[in-house]
Amino acid sequence: MNTATQNLENDHVYILRLIDVMGKMVLNCATDTVHMEMVVNLIKTYADGFHHAKEEKVLFPLLVEKGFSNEQGPVSVMLHEHVEGREFVTGISRRIDVYKAGNVSALPEIYQYMQGYVDLLRAHIGKENNVLFRMADKALSNDEQLSLLNKFAAIENQYEKGQIAESILEIEGLEAFYLEDVPETISPASGL
Ligand SMILES: [Fe+2]
Ligand SMILES: [Fe+2]
Repeated sequence: MNTATQNLENDHVYILRLIDVMGKMVLNCATDTVHMEMVVNLIKTYADGFHHAKEEKVLFPLLVEKGFSNEQGPVSVMLHEHVEGREFVTGISRRIDVYKAGNVSALPEIYQYMQGYVDLLRAHIGKENNVLFRMADKALSNDEQLSLLNKFAAIENQYEKGQIAESILEIEGLEAFYLEDVPETISPASGL
């Protein structure tokens, strides 16, 4: 059976792929502001827009109805981490503008905020996949999981047709640029 928690875990796969790209951009000291802005837009549209809307507007409220606390425990921790993530993204976005205005000292700050977001989201997704969603699976009936899936579909319908698929294509495009295996080069020492 398709479950709402599995649906969210599928989103996590793409979010993890996006944060792998961000990690590589930091490692490579990437300076392409078009790519940086694409990353910010992808977080705003896909990770924090589409995915977090499904969690915050649909899953978490039902879990609270089922007796989970939204003031302490896993739901409240997840909500708090979503807020922290937004602060990192605001930091990235503001520093991109400063860098674009010609201030190169903003670049290391962009990397700091990007790495902060990567570390936060990687741990956050681990907690959701391994702890909160497993608790949710135990608490929710099959009918409730299906009803959540219908509400997720309604959220997707609020986006322009094809926009979510387009976000995934953009993540794949960035991935091909930053994470593609570097082909082995023939070493001059090999004599070939
Ligand atoms: Fe989350
Ligand atoms: Fe999530």
